[in-house]
Amino acid sequence: MQPVPAQRTELLYERVRPFIPEIEWPVFADEVEAIWELKRRRQAVILAHNYQTPEIYHCVADVVGDSLHLAREARHLEAEVIVMAGVYFMAETAKLLNPVRTVLMPDLGAGCSLAESITPEDVRALRRAHPGVPVVTYVNTSAAVKAESDICCTSANAVAVVESLGTPRVLLIPDRYLAANVARRTAVEIIPWQGRCIVHERFGLEAVQALRREHPGLEVLAHPECRPEVVADADFSGSTTAMSEYIDRQRPAAVALLTECSMSDNITVDHPEVRFVRPCNLCPYMKRITLTNLRESLESLRYEVTIEAAVAERARRSVERMLAL
Ligand code: 13P
Ligand code: SF4
Repeated sequence: MQPVPAQRTELLYERVRPFIPEIEWPVFADEVEAIWELKRRRQAVILAHNYQTPEIYHCVADVVGDSLHLAREARHLEAEVIVMAGVYFMAETAKLLNPVRTVLMPDLGAGCSLAESITPEDVRALRRAHPGVPVVTYVNTSAAVKAESDICCTSANAVAVVESLGTPRVLLIPDRYLAANVARRTAVEIIPWQGRCIVHERFGLEAVQALRREHPGLEVLAHPECRPEVVADADFSGSTTAMSEYIDRQRPAAVALLTECSMSDNITVDHPEVRFVRPCNLCPYMKRITLTNLRESLESLRYEVTIEAAVAERARRSVERMLAL
């Protein structure tokens, strides 16, 4: 077994120095070295969502991005093992798109309030109530819900997916705020479900406007899971990766990202010139993933994500149809 060069962890520390005191780094470095070694031994890759903490995002991840990017990348991975540093629906999506790989979820409690808001039976009932109306399902759902759907979407492509169907109305489930934000940008009639993200629903318009008064010139970027009045007031709205690209492109002097806290932490590393004002909220599900459970996951190959074949076949169709657009 080749040891991981000590220089690597020293270089990695430079990426996370603002977040981890130097005296604490040796503890992190031990886990980081162990994870790199296990990835080599298991022929594994780690996919990390933009909401993962900086030591995961910058020090052990092989692919980082929004849920659309992680899905696209998962499809082509040749590694034996894919570990999802994200939430369960992302691991299921990776398994759907690359079923021959072993897909691991380090903590089965890493769910999502949107995924929990709707069941396959709810979707069947919606279809009965709206005969002939196609069902567009946000990827933040279980494979069983995707299996009841016509096509999936993410925050990066929701308007394009809705308009691709060529119908006067669609069911857009389960996030009622995403549905309202899409409805503002399309002539297609949107029929929503009542799901909400417990992280993004906490941003309120009054608080954002108070921030603008406190920080003149502040640019506000809002995730489409935020309340419609918050998104309408924002300077830009897009997926987590779209927000990151906006900062690469525009280099605002001061910015507030209305989304999960780790986003600003991860981006600031490459943008010391941008001042991040942080009215952020933590996602308790994303935060279930740690260096320790990533290491344990690779050591014991747990917890393997499996999807019943009949469900997987139908769910895969909905995801593939989105990716084909
Ligand atoms: P993105 O697809 O924009 O990364 O969003 C995923 C998510 O869970 C946001 O809360
Ligand atoms: Fe789900 Fe919201 Fe967490 Fe994203 S931030 S994983 S939508 S609970």
